[in-house]
Amino acid sequence: MYLSVAVLVLSCLALGTQGEEVCGPLEKIKVQHQWASAYRGDHDRLKMSTLVWKDFFAHHPEERARFERVHSDDIYSGDFRAHMVRVFAGFDLLIGVLNQDEIFKSAMIHYTKMHNDLGVKTEIVLEFGKSIARVLPDFIDGKPDITAWRPCFKLIAAGVSE
Ligand code: HEM
Repeated sequence: MYLSVAVLVLSCLALGTQGEEVCGPLEKIKVQHQWASAYRGDHDRLKMSTLVWKDFFAHHPEERARFERVHSDDIYSGDFRAHMVRVFAGFDLLIGVLNQDEIFKSAMIHYTKMHNDLGVKTEIVLEFGKSIARVLPDFIDGKPDITAWRPCFKLIAAGVSE
């Protein structure tokens, strides 16, 4: 009896660790909810965006050159601030339509094409996601639900082609 319970528990644990994280309906709601608390709540959105880009350039200094057009040598400049607003407005849009498949897909096609044309690869978008993950906890209400954020952000980073 004890042996079979132990076998059952061990198999569940093994399955649990092997199980793929998914960005399902529940995870989408959690991410939307947590994102809204950071982006629409009392927190300072520009401060959050600035800290994310600061973190990103600290981890990937070579990436600064890609954003020369928007004055990346000074992330407090008007040009770079406007860039940050555009990126996070785009991110906000994508998060907002995560659970509306058709709209999410067409928005993703647009962003994917734009980033592909700029030579932006999935790997670096995932790195940007790590910067978001390092900064977000200070701006959301409650503890970030990593097991929801990770697969949902991956969905965005992976891109969608027509
Ligand atoms: C989830 C993450 C991201 C979202 C939602 C996003 C969205 C956007 C948006 C909305 C724009 C502005 C397009 C316009 O001018 O109307 C933009 C521009 C751009 N993005 Fe992204 N972006 C993301 C991450 C990244 C990453 C990680 C990179 C590369 C490291 C990147 C590279 C660029 C470049 C080079 C531009 C053009 C900047 C310019 O105006 O010169 N993006 N992005």
